[in-house]
Amino acid sequence: MTTTQIHPSPVKNILCLAGSLRRNSWNRRLLQAAADCAPDGIKLTLFDELADVSMFNEDDEHDLAAGVKQLRHAVAKADGLLIATPEYNHSFPGVLKNAIDWLSRGTDSVLAGKPMAVIGASTGSWGTRLAQAALRQVLTATEARVMPGPMLFVARASDRLGVDDQRHDPELTESLSALVAHLGEWITLHKYHGEPLPTLDPSMS
Ligand code: FNR
Repeated sequence: MTTTQIHPSPVKNILCLAGSLRRNSWNRRLLQAAADCAPDGIKLTLFDELADVSMFNEDDEHDLAAGVKQLRHAVAKADGLLIATPEYNHSFPGVLKNAIDWLSRGTDSVLAGKPMAVIGASTGSWGTRLAQAALRQVLTATEARVMPGPMLFVARASDRLGVDDQRHDPELTESLSALVAHLGEWITLHKYHGEPLPTLDPSMS
């Protein structure tokens, strides 16, 4: 029997954010490696303009700066997010917190209900465990749908990510590919339509 696929599944577009502005960031390289090994049907694109996002200021919310608008637009149109964070002083960097604060605001928050996954790379031996935990906590406040697992903590990044983009640890490539495939399923599971979740207000019961 032959089957014809009448409605092929559309490609899932995942936007990648790196929590480091450093030119040779291991986290940006990790995201590039994820993009290179993504399974068919999933496309990863790096948002590389976080440096253009001004510091959050409520006074500026009525007239958003171009960098903020660009970030919000990119996140809004993505089916899901993949965030790679370094660890700074046992947490995640301010550049990422700033971006999340901008994205979380307004009745049109672009994070509420958005499926996403968190990964991270550091040069030390703990592989961003504390940074990822802190990031998950903050993302919970935004009502983002953060994938619980698989988790990926890339310790001693310089040993696992090649200096040129093709020479990564094969085990890492395998883990990344599996994680991105899971994220694709996570996006399907949540059938994301962009609606924020209802809030239960105990004072109203
Ligand atoms: C670090 N680094 C670091 N590493 C770690 O494992 N735990 C930590 O608490 C910190 N703290 C810290 C603070 C600051 C201000 C810097 C600049 C760095 C090291 C950090 O993980 C390492 O530099 C990563 O390589 C940074 O990520 P990118 O820029 O390579 O993506």
